Amino acid sequence: MASVTFDHVVKRYTADVTVVKDFNVDIKDKEFMVLVGPSGCGKSTALRMLAGLESITEGQIRIGRDIAMVFQSYALYPHMSVYDNMAFPLQMQHMKKDDMDRRVKNASKILGLDPFLKRKPRALSGGQRQRVALGRAIVRNPKVFLLDEPLSNLDAKLRGQTRIELQKLHRELETTFIYVTHDQVEAMTMGDRIAIMNAGILQQVGTPGDVYDRPANLFVAGFIGTPTMNFVPVTTSDSTATASGFTAKLPKSVPAGKGTLGFRPEALTDKPSADGSTLQMKVDVVERLGSDQYLYGQVGGGSSASTPARSTSSTRRANRRSSDRDPWKRFGHVRTSMQRASRRSGGLSAQR
Ligand SMILES: Nc1ncnc2c1ncn2[C@@H]1O[C@H](COP(=O)(O)OP(=O)(O)OP(=O)(O)O)[C@@H](O)[C@H]1O
Ligand SMILES: [Mg+2]
Repeated sequence: MASVTFDHVVKRYTADVTVVKDFNVDIKDKEFMVLVGPSGCGKSTALRMLAGLESITEGQIRIGRDIAMVFQSYALYPHMSVYDNMAFPLQMQHMKKDDMDRRVKNASKILGLDPFLKRKPRALSGGQRQRVALGRAIVRNPKVFLLDEPLSNLDAKLRGQTRIELQKLHRELETTFIYVTHDQVEAMTMGDRIAIMNAGILQQVGTPGDVYDRPANLFVAGFIGTPTMNFVPVTTSDSTATASGFTAKLPKSVPAGKGTLGFRPEALTDKPSADGSTLQMKVDVVERLGSDQYLYGQVGGGSSASTPARSTSSTRRANRRSSDRDPWKRFGHVRTSMQRASRRSGGLSAQR
């Protein structure tokens, strides 16, 4: 078993600097868990405590042995060949030459490094070096891989490719991966589950579908998803939310009052809505991305509370033409993906 448990883990550097606060997560054997959150929220610290590189102030981390960590800066030995770089951790263990050779060749094959085994790191591209760093972890045959932003040195295209390679690797090796990133797209595309952190506090743990469809709080709702969720300050009564130029039918009745309504851009269409939901938006900018088109604009009749809103896809072409003539666009049918977003902006409700 190579499960990993963070049990009420706290990391405090000084009395008033707490960078990880009451952190609780269970990572299952063979799971691909992504730890995601904005810069400085404590992701690397959590991973470094797990790797034993940082002391734990309070709580416990339970883990089997055999872990291998791949750092963001992959620090290959410049004077050693690719082969020797990968063999190095095994030499340190005084492994027999035959066994070592088998492991290095196996890792090299998985990672497509066979043509480069004799080269020095400086004669490799960034992506190839990254793979050597991964290889150095793979040869150790660990039960748990810890990866701290391993793709951040790669350009966008290579990042996309390596993302797919890592998922394949996870499937082939059948081991637990714990992967740290600040990039929610990486988290959504790779994780079996995602743990979202903010300011040292765990916000939510769930599958990509869970956190997208049922975000635990405003932070998660705004952090996950591109383009981001729209937020409109609304007044609710019964099962209707209203704001200037905005009416949305809610899926269920909520207490009367003020709140924040969140809806995903793709929840908007330009079809007339049967339930009377409608949104009037002054389109400021149209971003054309080829397959999609994003509309940015103001909701709520000009001077009053205006909220940036985005609309995607389904409104595309029809919109483009009509919005050229008339900047005020009516959208019907606002599918609300949250009944009513929690108003606690920090969102402290950690979930296990
Ligand atoms: N030795 C230290 N003393 C005090 N604070 C520290 C120390 N090391 C790190 N920190 C603080 O701990 C917080 C968490 O750092 P950490 O490296 O875990 O962030 P991160 O989530 O990995 O961010 P990034 O995405 O930028 O890598 C940061 O605010 C950082 O300034
Ligand atoms: Mg970090």
